[in-house]
Amino acid sequence: MPMAASEIASQVLDAHERLLIDQTIAAHRGRPGALLGILEGVQAANAHKFLSMESLRYIAGETGIPPSRVYSAASFYALFNLEPQGDNVICVCRGTACHTRGSRILLEKVCLDLGLSEHESGESKETEKLALTTADNRFTIRTVACFGQCALAPVVEVNHHILSHVNERTLQREVKALTQGRK
Ligand code: FES
Repeated sequence: MPMAASEIASQVLDAHERLLIDQTIAAHRGRPGALLGILEGVQAANAHKFLSMESLRYIAGETGIPPSRVYSAASFYALFNLEPQGDNVICVCRGTACHTRGSRILLEKVCLDLGLSEHESGESKETEKLALTTADNRFTIRTVACFGQCALAPVVEVNHHILSHVNERTLQREVKALTQGRK
């Protein structure tokens, strides 16, 4: 007899992970927008703040939502990560206002300082979306299309804390403080 999607996924998710997902599903059952709430909860509970393919398959199997719909939601919303995230997440805005005020230089500089190459993402230079994580998992550098705070451009978010009118020096100082564990 063929295995259900949730049975296949459960072979690679450990019991603790399955329990967390089961609890999250139960907490959202019957609620409007349940899928997004489940994805958000499962990601928040993950140590590396991401949704693995196994967890998406398990969610699909347990909720009865088609796997393609679960994956589409997880890949559509910028809020969700499909790759493990670093301990520190730095998000550089690449919207027009921030671009004209130097966000490209900020992005290049922070990548350089952390030994990351933008080309590693496999996306073209013009593509706005980027997510790179250092080999030691300490930093993830991401981009966003706009934070909606254009008057404060250029804007960079460091561990969910918005920094305004950022320049190379202030960003370097932030990264250094995080590297040295002062934040
Ligand atoms: S363009 Fe950067 S906040 Fe809008």
